[in-house]
Amino acid sequence: MPVRAARFGDLNRIAKIFNDAFWDEDATGRFMHPYRNEYPNDVLERYWLRETREAFWDCNSVLMVAGLTDSGEVVGAGKWECHGKKTGRWNWSEYNPIVVVMNNSVILYNRISAYIWPNRACDPKTINAYTEANLFFTHHWTGRRSSCLALERLGVHPIHQGEGHGRELVQWGLERAAQEKTAASVVCAYDTQGFYRKCGYDVEVGNVTEGEENPLAGVLGGTILFKDMEDTADGGWSG
Ligand SMILES: CC(C)(COP(=O)(O)OP(=O)(O)OC[C@H]1O[C@@H](n2cnc3c(N)ncnc32)[C@H](O)[C@@H]1OP(=O)(O)O)[C@@H](O)C(=O)NCCC(=O)NCCS
Repeated sequence: MPVRAARFGDLNRIAKIFNDAFWDEDATGRFMHPYRNEYPNDVLERYWLRETREAFWDCNSVLMVAGLTDSGEVVGAGKWECHGKKTGRWNWSEYNPIVVVMNNSVILYNRISAYIWPNRACDPKTINAYTEANLFFTHHWTGRRSSCLALERLGVHPIHQGEGHGRELVQWGLERAAQEKTAASVVCAYDTQGFYRKCGYDVEVGNVTEGEENPLAGVLGGTILFKDMEDTADGGWSG
């Protein structure tokens, strides 16, 4: 099955893929969800499902899936976020009030449901560490890299890892970035740098865990890789 845009009906499956793929990943697993074995359903229903719903309706993001050729079963998913200059095609929500309403409604719904049904598997002190650490690394997305397609999440179900689905999803994003004449970036989970380098990200600029008092200090992984845009006079997002 070729990579395709996620549909509303895929969201539960995508959440399950991320849940299983990231269960023991150092940042999202050990660091953010130290009580995941005590409350396994909370990780799926109160973290991944909420995140996946938000990603689906997020005006600046694209959620894509990869699946098996014969059955069409979805086995991998990736979320790309558009940083910087946005025109026409990525900022499509401007022309689609339903998406804007859904985007805000899902955020509100998630906030209310998190208040009523908190995620008991997480450590409240670390669950937002990535956002809190932003000031330590956002400078990497400046200058000619301010216009960038950032791979924010990528997961392949453990049963189907090693079958080429991850590469297929990354390839989609890199091709899209090239078409748009923009950079592409990824923050690598522990031990995935080799994978991303094989896929084409070839410039290492730093690590999201660096810096004194960085709340992510001690988390494994975090290398920031870019694939820079080709040198063109008209670099940036096309309309
Ligand atoms: C990392 C991940 C997305 C890779 O997807 P995948 O479908 O298993 O990988 P592919 O089969 O497309 O592999 C493509 C190539 O990369 C290699 N590769 C895969 N994972 C690798 C790794 N961790 N390190 C080095 N190389 C790797 C494969 O051997 C293959 O090489 P080849 O073409 O020479 O045979 C997947 O293993 C995964 O979901 N891991 C858990 C979640 C995670 O860490 N996600 C990344 C978050 S940044």
